[in-house]
Amino acid sequence: MNNSIYLSLKKLSFLLLISLLVACSHSSEKGYYSSFIPGELWFDTDSVHINAHGGGILFHEGVYYWFGEFKTAGRGGNTALVGVQVYSSTDLYNWKNEGTALEVVDVVGHDIERGSVIERPKVLYNKKTGKFVMWFHLELKGQGYSAARTAVAVADHVTGPYVFIESLRPNAGHWPMNFEQEFKELTETIDDYEWWTPDWEEAVHKGLFIRRDFEGGQMARDMTLFLDDDGTAYHIFSSEENLTLHIAELSEDFLSHTGRYTRIFPVGHNEAPAVFKHNGLYYMIASGCTGWEPNAARSFVAEDVFGPWTALGNPCVGAGAEITFESQSTFVLPVQGKEGAFIYMGDRWRPRNPIDGRYVWLPIVFKNDRPIIEWYDEWDLSIFDK
Ligand code: DGJ
Repeated sequence: MNNSIYLSLKKLSFLLLISLLVACSHSSEKGYYSSFIPGELWFDTDSVHINAHGGGILFHEGVYYWFGEFKTAGRGGNTALVGVQVYSSTDLYNWKNEGTALEVVDVVGHDIERGSVIERPKVLYNKKTGKFVMWFHLELKGQGYSAARTAVAVADHVTGPYVFIESLRPNAGHWPMNFEQEFKELTETIDDYEWWTPDWEEAVHKGLFIRRDFEGGQMARDMTLFLDDDGTAYHIFSSEENLTLHIAELSEDFLSHTGRYTRIFPVGHNEAPAVFKHNGLYYMIASGCTGWEPNAARSFVAEDVFGPWTALGNPCVGAGAEITFESQSTFVLPVQGKEGAFIYMGDRWRPRNPIDGRYVWLPIVFKNDRPIIEWYDEWDLSIFDK
């Protein structure tokens, strides 16, 4: 072996050793973390990287439950081959795998057939019915992203099993609450316009996609759920070809839509909505639409959940802010017992090997009533005590 090859190999082994040591120091081999390390592998208490992408968290009886998409290795790993996974934690750092909350089905033609697309699952507990209700974005097997449906499943126990009820396009036969009367009377169709022209944009503002989908229900892709203090739940989703967000009220049992909804920021191209409430105001963090590639986050505020919403700009500051620190929002988590403490939860997607997707959790602080997100290589909850 010549000298330079020997030296390179030596260098390589040294680097491998260092990476191993770093990985071990961050791993939960002893089942224990005491900080968040955004973007790194995050091991559960079995020392396996957490598999709960596009997730959301429910706090129930003293325990946090993290529900998310179970991804698999390699191309195709973004389709639902397993289902929705759930993890539990009492400290937010250390997560125990509680198994598959909602399993895909091996029946050809079933809505949640193995190989369909199940994204951004969110779960609420309904105090009146005592049931746990899960909503998620569903794309039917083999149809790409054209179905644009949402689906609901229900369980008696927080970790499941969740029983699939139905998939649908919401609010069929209902006009938005903030829809002008004259828009309801338009006779032209969106197909009369060439996409991306100024006239087309105006036509979108006038709700011609709403009109197109009026009978069959509105398109519903990226989504979140928000439970207000009065027990009313809302389903917030990207609709109208991902051009416009809809904020839709759910029925008392959370199992259906009431038909009361507003549309916000037509042609705003908002995806990945995450809603939270602070000091009586509603806040939303969302992303633009660039597939699996990260883009700049947006933030909004409103006095009423139905709107009007006001744009507050990119909540991220510092290096990497223009791509949300290489992440896309999925949820904003209120930290229990810490007034005004919220965690931004984002996904760092790995479309070529989805199982390797990472989690970017960062603290949200408020400056002049605006949510601000800054990068930290490592942080812990004591940040909220400062
Ligand atoms: C961006 C969305 O936010 C994700 O949930 C996923 O649907 C990808 N697009 C698919 O390209």
